[in-house]
Amino acid sequence: MPGDKSISHRALIFGALAIGRTRIGDLLEAEDVLNTAAVVTALGAPARKAGVVWEVLGRGVGGLCQPSGPLDFGNSGTGTRLMMGVISGHPITVRLTGDASLSRRPMSRVLRPLQQMGLEVLEDKETLPLTIRGTRDLVPIEYALPVPSAQVKSAILIAGLAAAGETTVIEREPTRDHTERMLRYFGADVRSVRGGGLTRITVKGDAELEGRDVAVPGDPSSAAFIAAAALIVPGSEVTIEGVLVNPTRTGFYETLREMGGDVAFLNAREEGGEPVADIRVRASKLTGVRVPPERAPSMIDEYPVLAVVAAFAQGRTQMDGLAELKVKESDRLAATAAGLAANGVEAAVNGDRLVVEGTGTVEGGGLVATHLDHRIAMSFLTMGLASRQPVAVDDSAMIATSFPEFRGLMELLGARFT
Ligand code: S3P
Repeated sequence: MPGDKSISHRALIFGALAIGRTRIGDLLEAEDVLNTAAVVTALGAPARKAGVVWEVLGRGVGGLCQPSGPLDFGNSGTGTRLMMGVISGHPITVRLTGDASLSRRPMSRVLRPLQQMGLEVLEDKETLPLTIRGTRDLVPIEYALPVPSAQVKSAILIAGLAAAGETTVIEREPTRDHTERMLRYFGADVRSVRGGGLTRITVKGDAELEGRDVAVPGDPSSAAFIAAAALIVPGSEVTIEGVLVNPTRTGFYETLREMGGDVAFLNAREEGGEPVADIRVRASKLTGVRVPPERAPSMIDEYPVLAVVAAFAQGRTQMDGLAELKVKESDRLAATAAGLAANGVEAAVNGDRLVVEGTGTVEGGGLVATHLDHRIAMSFLTMGLASRQPVAVDDSAMIATSFPEFRGLMELLGARFT
């Protein structure tokens, strides 16, 4: 399985903030991550491929320099928001740009806490393109996340590395914790304390990070398409090797099991401070389930493909607490419901709830509008593997933002694309 996108972004960014050389094995070479590599290079921490690994020459916390032009993040919300945290702690003025999808996404959720710490936003708006100015004099804050977002949490913790004192983020629903794990590995003082239904994550400022070797595990969000394909195509058995199974990322696989899916984590091990396993999936008879809202952060990127799987199950699948889906690369709630309808599947959106009526079979034959969203494209192409008629998507170029190997791997498993 190609490398995890979240961990790949973080390895490049922490490598740039560390002193000395960081070597990264199995970095995801997808457009989003390559944009982050270009961004840290433009800030004075060169990231390049050296043989089979990637190397970043770090400049230390506070040691990055003024770039000569705007920084283009392409389609990537993660790259943008995490780098806003980085820029906050440097006395540089930076223009941030992105594609049409990224330029529609809300940045105030990150800018507001970073402004409390000392970041200046030079325009009175909340979407890219934006110009921001950091400072050497960041102040630490204590901040309760108003939305369950690992990107917001991470941006604040990263800015906290450069602040004078301890910065604390408080979260109610646990979100992916790769930032906390990897910052500790790079030598930062990061503490997480769970109690009273909340997690308090504290980072000590004036931090010094040291360059490290990082091994990036396989991406469970990309593996989700392969797992879904194996479940819905009769007779399939697929083992996906070396996939990250951090519990903050495995809600999709848990849900598949509840639906009756034959999904096993084999050969469980730890690699580079993260749990990893080979995921074996066999085609299964599936039943609709109710997916509780508290599971959303651990499978936030997998709802579109879960909705596709649900269409092949018997009975109703109800997914609750999906507000965050509306502010992803597209409005994924609307795009998923429209894609299901285009292929003859009964589905309804009601507030933050998506309901899919599964009948075990899907007619297909629809043309799905992808709205520059890689996961919408891959979800509905996966649907086409098991529907009566092939499924078409209006664009597939953006699949390269997260999973350039998608088509090749699916073809290896027997899929046909035209
Ligand atoms: C990510 C966090 C999630 C996820 C995104 C990657 C990360 O976003 O949707 O694909 O790497 O931190 P939010 O934290 O904003 O929900």
